[in-house]
Amino acid sequence: MVELSPLGFGVSGAHGTPLLPASQTQALIEAAVAGGVRYFDTAPSYGAGECERRLGRALRGLDRSDLVISTKVGLMSHGLSGRRRDLSPEGIEASLRASLDRLGVEGVDLLIIHGAALHELTWELKLRLDALKQAGAFRWLGAAGRTVALDWALDVGMFDMLMAPVHPFLDAAETATLDRAAAAGVGVVAIETAGDAPPVLRAPRTPSDLYSLGRRLRGVPAGRGRIATPDGLAQALKRPGVVSALFTTTRPAHLQSNIARLAHAHEDDEAG
Ligand SMILES: NC(=O)c1ccc[n+]([C@@H]2O[C@H](COP(=O)([O-])OP(=O)(O)OC[C@H]3O[C@@H](n4cnc5c(N)ncnc54)[C@H](OP(=O)(O)O)[C@@H]3O)[C@@H](O)[C@H]2O)c1
Repeated sequence: MVELSPLGFGVSGAHGTPLLPASQTQALIEAAVAGGVRYFDTAPSYGAGECERRLGRALRGLDRSDLVISTKVGLMSHGLSGRRRDLSPEGIEASLRASLDRLGVEGVDLLIIHGAALHELTWELKLRLDALKQAGAFRWLGAAGRTVALDWALDVGMFDMLMAPVHPFLDAAETATLDRAAAAGVGVVAIETAGDAPPVLRAPRTPSDLYSLGRRLRGVPAGRGRIATPDGLAQALKRPGVVSALFTTTRPAHLQSNIARLAHAHEDDEAG
C-alpha cells in the first residue's frame, strides 16, 4: 500500500526556472519538511530536469529515511516550451535513469507514468518496469492523467496509485473514476485541489509570478471554478481513497497557510 504524508509538495513550475533562485526552492523544501510534509513530487518535464536537480540538492541535506519521492516518465521537456512523449520501454528506462542521476538517488519511492494512452501500456513496457522495480529503481508505480486515461490505468491493473484532479467541480464521470479507484484500493494523489479555473489574475509581485503570468498569456481554459488552496487541500483529503494532496508554491507564507489549514482540519476531526 502506498504510504504518503497527507500533504505533498510539488517541485514544479517556477522552481524549474531562473525566475526563482534555487536557494528559495531549497528553503521552501526545508520549511515543508519542518512543517511535517514528507512527500515530494517532481518530473523530468518540469524545467527540463531543473526541478529534479533542485529537489536532489535539497535531499542531500535531509534525512531521506522517512521522505517519499516521486518522479515521472513518459513526457520530457526541452527549452522553454518543447515537449516530447516517449513511452517505449527503452525511452522509459533512459528517462528514469537520467532522473535518478539528477535526483542523486539510487531509486525513487514512486514512479508515475505521465498521461499514457491504453495502447502505450504494453506487455513489453510492463516487463521493463518489473525489471526496473526488481533492481530497486522504484517501489510503487503510479499513473497521472485526466478523465479516460485514469480509467485505462485502472483497467490494466498495473498501478498502485493514481495522480488525479480532485476538487469540488468534478463532473459525474470524474467522480465515478475516483470511486472506482477507492473501491479497487488504488490510492489517489490529489492535484488541482483548488479547482481547474486559473487563479485570479493579479499584478506580478515577484519574478517567479512572471512564470504563471506567462502561462496565462499563452492561454489557459476558463475551467469550472476555484476555491482557496488551503480549503481545497483539506477537502480533497476527506474524499475516500485520497492518500495525499499535492500543492506547489513559491511563497513561504502560502506554504505555512496550507500546512496550518491541515493542522486545523485534524483538530476539527478530533473535536467532531
Ligand atoms: N496540475 C497538473 O497538471 C499536474 C499534473 C501532474 C502533477 N502535478 C503535481 O501537482 C502539484 C500541484 O499542482 P497544482 O496544479 O495542484 O497546483 P496548485 O498547488 O493548485 O498551485 C497553483 C498555484 O496556487 C498558488 N498557491 C499555493 N498555495 C497557496 C495559498 N495558500 N494561497 C494562495 N495561493 C496558493 C501557488 O502560487 P504561489 O507560488 O503564489 O503560492 C501555485 O502556483 C505540482 O507541483 C505537481 O507536482 C500537477
